Amino acid sequence: MLRADYSLLKFNTMHLDVSAQNFVSIESHDNLIQYITANDWQKPLYILGGGSNIVFLKDFEGTILHINIHGKEIVKEDENQVCVKANAGENWHEFVLWALQNDFGGLENLSLIPGKVGASPMQNIGAYGVEIKDVFEELEAVEISTGKIRKFNALDCAFGYRESVFKNELKDKFIITSVTFRLTKKNHKIKTEYGAIQQQLAEFHIENPTIQDVSRAVIAIRESKLPHPKEIPNCGSFFKNPTILNEKYHLLQQEFPGIPGYEVGNGFTKVPAGWLIEKAGWKGFRNETVGVHEKQALVLINHNHGSGQDIFDLSEMILQDIKQKFGIKLEREVNII
Ligand code: EPU
Repeated sequence: MLRADYSLLKFNTMHLDVSAQNFVSIESHDNLIQYITANDWQKPLYILGGGSNIVFLKDFEGTILHINIHGKEIVKEDENQVCVKANAGENWHEFVLWALQNDFGGLENLSLIPGKVGASPMQNIGAYGVEIKDVFEELEAVEISTGKIRKFNALDCAFGYRESVFKNELKDKFIITSVTFRLTKKNHKIKTEYGAIQQQLAEFHIENPTIQDVSRAVIAIRESKLPHPKEIPNCGSFFKNPTILNEKYHLLQQEFPGIPGYEVGNGFTKVPAGWLIEKAGWKGFRNETVGVHEKQALVLINHNHGSGQDIFDLSEMILQDIKQKFGIKLEREVNII
């Protein structure tokens, strides 16, 4: 159903009070293809999933397609593995919980990430040592210019750190309608290398964790650090963790002993943006409307009815300050439109 001048307040986790000139809820694949091929919609088109990674700077003049295609099914299985196809409109965390109830392994480290299944490959969501690419089998997407369905395997998706082909060469060209994940049914690969998970499991007094235990640990960590969008509007990590040349990292170490960094190969080191922002003194900063979360400096919050511009301006000040103090150019992780 088409709605005009429709409020997007409920549809973005930064809780920005903006509206869409046209807003259409899409409930099925057929519905989507019909709509796309009719080609009589007001352009530009923006595909909205859970709205957890977007900042609207102003009202959207064009058409927002809200993808609400639900359902999931097992498409292939043997005694060790199962391939589950989930439609784009499924809530991510509910899908993870469903997998865990069925004792399907692979998604547990990605518990409690906001958003919907369809958005998960866009930026190759990742947390606590796992990225979607590790469990990805294939996805289906509709080409906007033709209405044709195309399948993408992992290689086609060109996954990188918070990156995929859909954020680059194929930006705004396809609408992801379903994602198929390859999960384990036994001999689950428990991933607990991440220090925070080990600490949390130790607190739970668990020595041989199950996938359900890992999920519980991840949920506890996220709940302790990351604000729930219903309580404090936010978009999760606002910036990416930058990678810098090893030489540059070693120079920074002399000036800032204790700066964390993880070698990622090819002569580069990844540095946590949260550390840089905290060190620069921004953690817990607030102006009248927006601020930096007091427990995780990578998260910008909208604590008092701020606008997208307020959030953007704050992010710009942080970017410039980090550039000046450390000579590092941060990149935003969220989409700004
Ligand atoms: N740190 C600080 N101060 C802070 C925050 C972080 O000093 O305020 C430093 C600490 O040294 C800490 C390190 O940063 O050890 C890493 O922090 P954390 O484990 O919280 O992870 P992150 O690098 O800040 C990334 C992802 C998160 C993901 C976590 C866990 C990005 C941009 N963010 O954050 O993803 O949950 O790792 O794997 O890569 C998201 O994308 O929305 C998101 C929350």
